[in-house]
Amino acid sequence: MIHRTVLAGLTGLLLLSSVAAMADSANDEKAKKMANNAGCFTCHTLQHVDKKDGSKPVGPAWEDVALQYKDKPGAAEFLTRIVLEGSNPYASHWKNKAAGIAMPPNAVAISESDARQLVFWILSH
Ligand code: HEC
Repeated sequence: MIHRTVLAGLTGLLLLSSVAAMADSANDEKAKKMANNAGCFTCHTLQHVDKKDGSKPVGPAWEDVALQYKDKPGAAEFLTRIVLEGSNPYASHWKNKAAGIAMPPNAVAISESDARQLVFWILSH
């Protein structure tokens, strides 16, 4: 009797977590496709990479962006604007951490709602 209850509970838990994992990976695929189509990966990587020769990536790794902005209120809106309109070359946020001086505006390559979704996804890592 007890066994059956425990088993049912466990099965329920397993089901729940696999549904969550499926939703997650579908979301990941969608976000990566969006980023790829918009050309973000020309300058960005997902994970931080320390190159042997000390060279920096053009744009900061999104893992680093998430670390930097995760707990900052309003970060998603702030970053969505920068993604769409480009960054200020005279006030670089990633000085000495990225090789690029500024990010060009991406509004030609991605819609505002897609950019917002992508930024939320970046920040969720
Ligand atoms: C031509 C290269 C290039 C492309 C393409 C590009 N970025 Fe960037 N991105 C940069 C650079 C360089 C920075 C660093 C700007 C700075 O130092 O303030 C940056 C910074 C960022 C930041 C952090 C902004 C900040 O102020 O901290 C986010 C988020 C970001 N990019 C997302 C994206 C997304 C999403 C796309 C695709 C729609 C994209 N980038 C396409 C070069 C690029």
